[in-house]
Amino acid sequence: MKIAPSLLAADFSALAQEVARVQGADWLHIDVMDGVFVPNISMGPPVIAALRDKTDLLFDVHLMIEHPLAYVEAFRRAGADCITFHTECADDPQELVEAISRNGAKAGVAIKPATGVDAIGPWGQALSMVTLMTVEPGFGGQKLMEAPLVKIRQIKERFPHLLVQVDGGVNASTIQLCARAGADAVVAGTAVFGAAEPQKEMERLRALQ
Ligand code: DX5
Ligand code: ZN
Repeated sequence: MKIAPSLLAADFSALAQEVARVQGADWLHIDVMDGVFVPNISMGPPVIAALRDKTDLLFDVHLMIEHPLAYVEAFRRAGADCITFHTECADDPQELVEAISRNGAKAGVAIKPATGVDAIGPWGQALSMVTLMTVEPGFGGQKLMEAPLVKIRQIKERFPHLLVQVDGGVNASTIQLCARAGADAVVAGTAVFGAAEPQKEMERLRALQ
């Protein structure tokens, strides 16, 4: 499985150095929160733009915001390679996927722990990745819920081409649950950035699968 460190768990006073500590990652997961869709506020396009020339890592931007359509262009311009929106947001998913593709980014969808895979309509064909939440979105450092993991195989039955990434509570004790459930990638925030040596922690996580 691919390992995507979540910048949310990094030291925000030294983001460029933090990004340098995870150069061996498969991509960087960037959590964007608006204080409306989730009860927390994190970062927006200016922070992503400031990091864009500090690394070649792909940026997977996880939008936990209402009205994502209004921000697609700004996040793409800031340097997002993949833009992931939540199905639970009111906007028209078909239109969103088209807007993301038109702007030259890959499109991803995220679903909350209680959201069924039926929420991913035929527009799922045009996506690159599904982010399967195993915590309620809003905060890092929570405990992984196992129940949503069954959705990985359901998604793969319907959309065999899609990468499925597990997000929330992934660490050395839970990564095997994700691997066994068929995940292609995991997001790890606290586990990676909380480690003294993030690079070694990612290697340890890879070895555990
Ligand atoms: C939660 C975010 C996650 C979070 C993961 O809303 O989407 O990406 O940062 O953090 P950990 O790995 O600490 O659970
Ligand atoms: Zn996330």
